[in-house]
Amino acid sequence: SAPLRQHAASRGKFIGTALATGPLSSETSYRNIAATEFSQVTAENAMKWESTEPNQGQFTFSGADAIVDFAAQNGQQVHGHTLVWHNQTPGWVQGLGAGAMRTAMQNHIGQVVGRYADNPTVVSWDVVNEVFDDNGGMRGSFWYNTLGQSFIADAFRAARAADPDARLCINDYNVEGINAKSTAMYNLVRSLRQQNVPVDCVGFQSHLAIQYGFPSDLQQNLQRFADLGVQVWITEVDVRMQMPRDSAKDATQATYYRNVVNACLAVTACAGVTIWGFTDKYSWVPDTFSGEGAALIYNENYQQKPAYTAVHDAL
Ligand code: XIL
Repeated sequence: SAPLRQHAASRGKFIGTALATGPLSSETSYRNIAATEFSQVTAENAMKWESTEPNQGQFTFSGADAIVDFAAQNGQQVHGHTLVWHNQTPGWVQGLGAGAMRTAMQNHIGQVVGRYADNPTVVSWDVVNEVFDDNGGMRGSFWYNTLGQSFIADAFRAARAADPDARLCINDYNVEGINAKSTAMYNLVRSLRQQNVPVDCVGFQSHLAIQYGFPSDLQQNLQRFADLGVQVWITEVDVRMQMPRDSAKDATQATYYRNVVNACLAVTACAGVTIWGFTDKYSWVPDTFSGEGAALIYNENYQQKPAYTAVHDAL
């Protein structure tokens, strides 16, 4: 039957995946599925600061370019991820004083966004990632502790200056339902836009787990953001479970994937859904959440799971 991207296109949405450069260069099955099923790709790690500017002023784009070249060959768009984050950022950045840190941030954004500004494959960026804590306060990251909240507006302005046409996003997790954290995000996005800070979209990572329940107000939450005038994107969905896998957990997982796709389809301003990888062979989940796994839509042997069918049939 037709690939996911064909169904997504017929609904006016993208269907994306995160890609890792290792298997992309070495595994035919990985490449084939990535190329055929998805219309958008996000670099799982290759565009992060530690990858693109490991030492101050020394930029390395080999991994990022590999992702962009693959996408271009396959008629896909690239969502840039991510410019300003508290993780996977070198120690040299974290140790800077305020003036030097702000300058380094603006230079990094200018160089990374600027490299792809005239490349039609790269359409968007996660400008800032995970700036909130889970209670709806600002995360006490080195960014915030050194620069205060102003780093957020400064980052968006630098990205806009480097690429006037890119869609610029703020991205976070645990903001899928209506809660203190998503309301803090809502208030920040509204305030930034009132100040003409160029925030074009909000990314809802959507790292879900079947044992924690589905955020049943996802569609309602997406819609309240859409009503601010921004696009809403599902940027990193996966649905983990406590191992071992079984058919009942697979069925529950499939309903979560279906519900995510349906929520996006129901909101005009939802541009699409990106899954954080596609095969359980390469997923961040087992390395991050002890005892959990099987979060993606293909198993480790590249066979489609019920979650694949759910996404396919919803689109
Ligand atoms: C994860 C990658 O999947 C891992 O390979 C890496 O070791 C750590 O980062 N939120 C994000 C992503 O925005 O960048 C993270 O990706 C997952 C959580």
